[in-house]
Amino acid sequence: DQVYLNGEYLPLADAKVSVLDRGFLFGDGVYEVIPVYRGRLFRFDDHITRLNASLRAIRLDVNKTVAEWRAIFSPMLDSSKDQYIYLQITRGYAPKRDHGFPEQVLPTVFAMCSEMKPFAGRATGVKALTLEDTRWRMCNVKAITLLANLLLRQEALDQDCAEAILVRNGYVTEGAASNLFAVIDDELITPPKSNEILPGITRDVILELAEANQIRCREEVIAVEALQDASEIWVTSSTREIVPVTELDGMMVGSGKPGQVYRKMDQLFQAYKQ
Ligand code: PDD
Repeated sequence: DQVYLNGEYLPLADAKVSVLDRGFLFGDGVYEVIPVYRGRLFRFDDHITRLNASLRAIRLDVNKTVAEWRAIFSPMLDSSKDQYIYLQITRGYAPKRDHGFPEQVLPTVFAMCSEMKPFAGRATGVKALTLEDTRWRMCNVKAITLLANLLLRQEALDQDCAEAILVRNGYVTEGAASNLFAVIDDELITPPKSNEILPGITRDVILELAEANQIRCREEVIAVEALQDASEIWVTSSTREIVPVTELDGMMVGSGKPGQVYRKMDQLFQAYKQ
């Protein structure tokens, strides 16, 4: 399987980056994860728009059009399966380790394509736990600097949970690597876009599907106590799609099974992605 690195395609094992790369030394870079269903890039324009917003936020210039990105990814796609592209752009190699940006910046651009298998928890529901959101205040940027997210996800895994649901100032923001939805009083609610969450593409799709299918839906802050009373909770991401949370902090959510609104939305999503 070939990967893309700075204009070349090569076997994964041959793709090498300097230890002086600012991605390695500082986590100085951004990334995207783009689903590819049977060879078709899912919501591609939206992913590239978000990538450009991330690049702008970290003051990195990579002037490529949507068509140019598409041409880069095309040779790695296999239309006989579902895949996802991991794209990472760092501020590149600098001759010495220095916090300030180097004078000459040649970004490192890396992309690989992996098979996407259905996430098992989608059918059964998963356990989640709430944890204090310890991340920085630029969570809208898809930065490769993920240490806080990793610690939070691992804390969840250590407690036999699939995801950590993060709490800031008494309100839930999102998951460690996902966005959050809840059904409260028969209404689907998700926290509004802000610097405290990543503007998820899956999240956008769900809001559109709700609108188009008369599912009552609102972007509104959710207090952690309100979440504990929700009849349904879901976490959403490009790689897992929509995952029902059936146990939160050791307590059953709703009936303890994937809910009715979830089943409807999952059906709509599966039909939409084809
Ligand atoms: N993560 N919030 C965070 C913190 C995330 O890391 C992700 C996705 C999302 C969902 O965004 P989207 O629907 O666009 O995938 C929300 C990716 C999948 C990852 O880090 O692998």
